[in-house]
Amino acid sequence: MTLQIRSLEEYNEVYKQSVAQPEQFWAEQAETFQWHQKWDKVLEWEFDTPDVKWFVGGKLNITENCLDRHLAERGDQTAIIWEPNDPNAPAKTYTYKELHSEVCRFANVLKNNGIKKGDRVCFYLPMVPEMAIAVLACARIGAIHSVVFAGFSASSLADRINDAACKMVLCSDGNFRGKKQIPVKAVVDEAIATCPSIETVIMLKHTGQEVAWNEKTDKNWAEELTKVDNVCPAEIMDSEDTLFILYTSGSTGKPKGVQHSCGGYMVYTTFSFKNVFQYQDGDVYWCTADVGWITGHSYIVYGPLAAGATTVMFEGVPTFPDAGRFWEVCDKHKVNIFYTAPTAIRALMAKGLEYVTPYKLDTLKVLGTVGEPINEEAWHWYDEHIGKKNCPIVDTWWQTETGGIMISPLANITPLKPTFATLPLPGIQPVLVNAEGEEIEGNDVEGYLCIKFPWPSMIRTTWGDHERCRNVYFNRFKGKYFTGDGCRRDEDGMYRIIGRVDDVIIVSGHNLGTAEIENGINQHARVVESAVVGFPHKIKGNAVYAYIICDGDIDDVDALKKEIIGTVSKEVGPIAKPDKIQFVPGLPKTRSGKIMRRILRKIAGGDRDTSNMGDISTLLNPEIVASVIEGAEAV
Ligand code: WT7
Repeated sequence: MTLQIRSLEEYNEVYKQSVAQPEQFWAEQAETFQWHQKWDKVLEWEFDTPDVKWFVGGKLNITENCLDRHLAERGDQTAIIWEPNDPNAPAKTYTYKELHSEVCRFANVLKNNGIKKGDRVCFYLPMVPEMAIAVLACARIGAIHSVVFAGFSASSLADRINDAACKMVLCSDGNFRGKKQIPVKAVVDEAIATCPSIETVIMLKHTGQEVAWNEKTDKNWAEELTKVDNVCPAEIMDSEDTLFILYTSGSTGKPKGVQHSCGGYMVYTTFSFKNVFQYQDGDVYWCTADVGWITGHSYIVYGPLAAGATTVMFEGVPTFPDAGRFWEVCDKHKVNIFYTAPTAIRALMAKGLEYVTPYKLDTLKVLGTVGEPINEEAWHWYDEHIGKKNCPIVDTWWQTETGGIMISPLANITPLKPTFATLPLPGIQPVLVNAEGEEIEGNDVEGYLCIKFPWPSMIRTTWGDHERCRNVYFNRFKGKYFTGDGCRRDEDGMYRIIGRVDDVIIVSGHNLGTAEIENGINQHARVVESAVVGFPHKIKGNAVYAYIICDGDIDDVDALKKEIIGTVSKEVGPIAKPDKIQFVPGLPKTRSGKIMRRILRKIAGGDRDTSNMGDISTLLNPEIVASVIEGAEAV
């Protein structure tokens, strides 16, 4: 079985060894998996192109490691517990045997509908067990999944489908979210009107709401299942074959298709899952993320299943039927390990303790957070009221691009420090660099966070545009992977993530590109130009502040704001809606025409003092700053 570190001494020793002899270290971990053919070489790499290959020449199928290999020993153990949106509807469980069978059946459905190794399949599904089943079914036959969060708009979905030229979309009729029913199939219909590569849409009946039906493309999920059996040998994949694409926001409007490959991703997600959460046989583990994000890929589906764990999938929202839902579900399913986002903790904290005290929460052993820095107050609330001061909180720092957790405590093994992600996992070599790219040595320092050596689950490329991958991650600091985060290393050598240093805003743990939101705003007929920045928000961590130049006079400011918010919601998705909009006569720009977001960020954050804005005399239009500051008062 994959190594599970059990003491601080062991962590120190293993870490040292993993840096001194990374290839030997990762080979030992990879040995614990099932391969059809062993690798010839553990690692080939250079960070200029970049070109990174792990377990070169190795052959495997990740689903045999997530499913088949567990059948003999834990076939009747629960693999997935699904908790529906409606607390009165029954939960559903799948044993490893049942999950294996369902995955093979759906893999045959994919094959029956013309999907072959290397084809791209787009997912636009709510958090139903079929999501996990179909993801694994893709991996079973070597098709590449591209999961799009089912809160994105039709045009965002279409962009992602077109970028990867997906042949198929998997969707549901609708989606339950709290009291609401949200259309899903209708969004897909609108999206694929502009997606020539789509041949088939397979729709799962879930809410029962009415949908339009296209006889040429549309297939009914349940009906397709009646045509197949549950025997499906796994496609033998090369270690470096692509397992999936997952889109993440970037500094241009076009999202990046982050590409992960089979072998390294499997080894690293399993290793990190077992070590960070210290999962023990029989534990019930619940990660509240959506499979539409990397957290769901790595730590609801692949990592836990490859480790033979019992993983909970939750369809609902934290505040339905009330703000006690998470804690009710923890008691109901006797959850031992609970992993969620700081924004959820803050939202529930704001609702008051009366939603927590009715629950025992006595099965919890380990708590986790992910997605953004957690503030001191939320950390202590989580520790005291949920963990009863008895559960370590693992603050896990990582990214879509890193595939797995990079810097985090190992629960009960390594030290905690509130608001710190603390120490790197074995095999991870973080460094801080200054603006010139020079490594900053020693402790009690701050800089740009980079990783200087490859790790198995790292990004391989951005789909269809390798140059973009090089530019964004490997060009700024030669020979290093640049994370886009600012970071502090304190006097004890512990890492604390400060936040993004690029044009990405983390709203409620969701990674949004300023350009993407601006493109959405600019779709409104009256908008001439816009600039968005993040500003601190009590619950969301950051929220979106939009500065907008409109044509002509505005009669009804509030009505126009509403319209623009509607446009963003439609063009990008509800998560990208600005919290604040300020109409401005102009935007501060450099002489080369670049918007000075630094100034806009300060104003959005409440700063009203021109002398804090840095040197504005070099601006193309310095006089605009005072006018933007003046206008900010009324927002
Ligand atoms: C960005 C990556 C990793 C899955 C969810 C987000 C921020 C993530 C932490 C943390 C402080 C964090 C970083 C990072 N972030 N985890 N524990 N502490 N910041 O994945 O959408 O790719 O976003 O989220 O800024 O770069 P993502």
